Amino acid sequence: MLSKKTVKYLNKHCRRLDGKTVLITGANGGIGFKTAETLVYLGASVVLACRNPEKAASAREKLVADYPEADIRVMPLDVADFASIDAFAGDLPDVDAFINNAGVFHRPGEKTADGLELVMGTNYVGTFRVGEKVLPKLENCGHDVVYINTISLIHKFARVDFGRFYDEKGSYARSKLCLARYSEYLANKYRGTNIHVFMSHPGIAITGIASHLFGKFYILAKIMPFNSVERSSLAAAYILSGNAPCGSVVGPHILFCGWGNPKVNRKSKRALRDIKPLVEFTAGETARIAAEKEK
Ligand SMILES: NC(=O)c1ccc[n+]([C@@H]2O[C@H](COP(=O)([O-])OP(=O)(O)OC[C@H]3O[C@@H](n4cnc5c(N)ncnc54)[C@H](OP(=O)(O)O)[C@@H]3O)[C@@H](O)[C@H]2O)c1
Repeated sequence: MLSKKTVKYLNKHCRRLDGKTVLITGANGGIGFKTAETLVYLGASVVLACRNPEKAASAREKLVADYPEADIRVMPLDVADFASIDAFAGDLPDVDAFINNAGVFHRPGEKTADGLELVMGTNYVGTFRVGEKVLPKLENCGHDVVYINTISLIHKFARVDFGRFYDEKGSYARSKLCLARYSEYLANKYRGTNIHVFMSHPGIAITGIASHLFGKFYILAKIMPFNSVERSSLAAAYILSGNAPCGSVVGPHILFCGWGNPKVNRKSKRALRDIKPLVEFTAGETARIAAEKEK
């Protein structure tokens, strides 16, 4: 159940979304799940695109328990596996909004199904592959679609070096910088079309990702005055209510954008540079991986 504060916020700042369908990747927990709940509260149908069927079913059950009238579906999607992404795109339902939320933080030694370093392979290359497969379909769906990529404030401290693209060190920040640049590319590419591209970021919220970030200090992190997960999950409702111009970054706006309700944030200079070589490099990577799979 949403808190009274969140319900008040949604009633005051957001539009009803009855008749709209929103797909959210990685929606079985954390920010993805709470985003789904805020959108269901506003009347949207939601599709939870998740890699773990048990977790997805349990997330669906929780939502149905609180919103018995809601239309909540589940779809399999593992963003760390090209075969799963391609199959998912083949079954894509008609949606009014698509939110790339799935992400991982700091997984030393772990790889995607296609052998890439897991964090870069999921947060950026996998999300890029989702875009390659899904966007052409959305382009031809005959109505407007909002497309949101979830970045992170930490992208402001990253660098991209193609020679060290898959290094584990700094991979989370780098993956989010790449995602920010790619989102900027998409926003420009689709400007004036039926696809409306946005970036959102949750500030800092204590979710599964934070348990990796804080490690043994996780208990302390829980009592620190970070945004609640619910508050960090309001960006999608804000964007879908028409509160932000197309192509913008939406997230908390107080305390260096780590805290508070969503507003349009200023873009980082880093996210606006060197976009073309990155997109070309990544398209080469996804083509190489797809070709290797076909062998
Ligand atoms: N929390 C923050 O402070 C913060 C700050 C900046 C940005 N973000 C971003 O916000 C997004 C949500 O993160 P969160 O904080 O809610 O973390 P979380 O609680 O760990 O949730 C991450 C979600 O992504 C899913 N996921 C991970 N890998 C996946 C894959 N290969 N395929 C499909 N789903 C996958 C997870 O599914 P499983 O349950 O199966 O693992 C989980 O549902 C991420 O993109 C993250 O980078 C979070």
